[in-house]
Amino acid sequence: SRHYAVFGHPVAHSLSPRIHAAFGRQTSIPIDYRAIDVEPGQFTHALMDFVASGGAGANVTLPLKQAAFTLCDDLTERARRAGAVNTLVRNGDTWHGDNTDGVGLVRDLTERHALDLRARRTLLIGAGGAARGVAPALLDAGIGDLFIVNRTPERTDQLADALAEPDRVHPRYLGDLQALGEFDLILNATSAARDGSHVPAMPRAIVGRRCAAVDLNYGEAAIPFLAWARAAGCHDVVDGLGMLVEQAAESFARWHGVRPETDAVYAMLNSNHD
Ligand code: ATR
Repeated sequence: SRHYAVFGHPVAHSLSPRIHAAFGRQTSIPIDYRAIDVEPGQFTHALMDFVASGGAGANVTLPLKQAAFTLCDDLTERARRAGAVNTLVRNGDTWHGDNTDGVGLVRDLTERHALDLRARRTLLIGAGGAARGVAPALLDAGIGDLFIVNRTPERTDQLADALAEPDRVHPRYLGDLQALGEFDLILNATSAARDGSHVPAMPRAIVGRRCAAVDLNYGEAAIPFLAWARAAGCHDVVDGLGMLVEQAAESFARWHGVRPETDAVYAMLNSNHD
């Protein structure tokens, strides 16, 4: 039978196996999907073992999304622009790479949370795999100018260069946030809270009148940034749970040819988490 999995490190607490099992029940497709913990140096080897045992597709989560990008034989346009892969599809003896994070985020924000993203002046905090995954889709969704800040400035510049829209995309220093004016959309794409360290300190002055704050993390890891956002007066405050469910639905569709309904699965996970 065909196997599916999510690769990450750590990955034991991933909700993806539950999400894919629920999609399988809903669509009457038998799903064999598990979480596989693999250190970055072992990823290529682990994928070979996976294929040998019938692996047909996989999700890839932190910190392996950029590694997955480099080992794919071919890529979708959106994965190429992201420089990061979260969905692998086995195609004969090659890996096809896609990135469903961005469309998942945009679908969650525009449909579940009814946010109009068009022309929003946007701040993206972080320039790792998560930030790379969502930036192209945000631009495609019609946001206004996109400012990017990151602890390591070199990665900010690399991401801005990769997006190749110099008129709209502006790399800036984290320390210069105060001078950047007000934003209508602020996204936390850092893993700071997941590692138990602090989200970078942010001045209230960056919050515009009807600003939406979005954390790509969910659960405990989304608490510090979203608490800051509420205290700073953000109009909408959204965690990454809906994005997780939507990107999973996109991946499921790639593998099984059917796009599952996401609302019931989102509601189930949301009630467990609050
Ligand atoms: P990866 O890049 O490993 O694939 P990621 O979670 O998307 O995974 O990237 C981690 C992001 O969180 C990066 O933007 C990282 O900043 P650096 O590029 O400077 O490493 C950011 N990050 C992690 N810990 C942080 C902290 N304590 N403060 C600020 N930013 C942090």
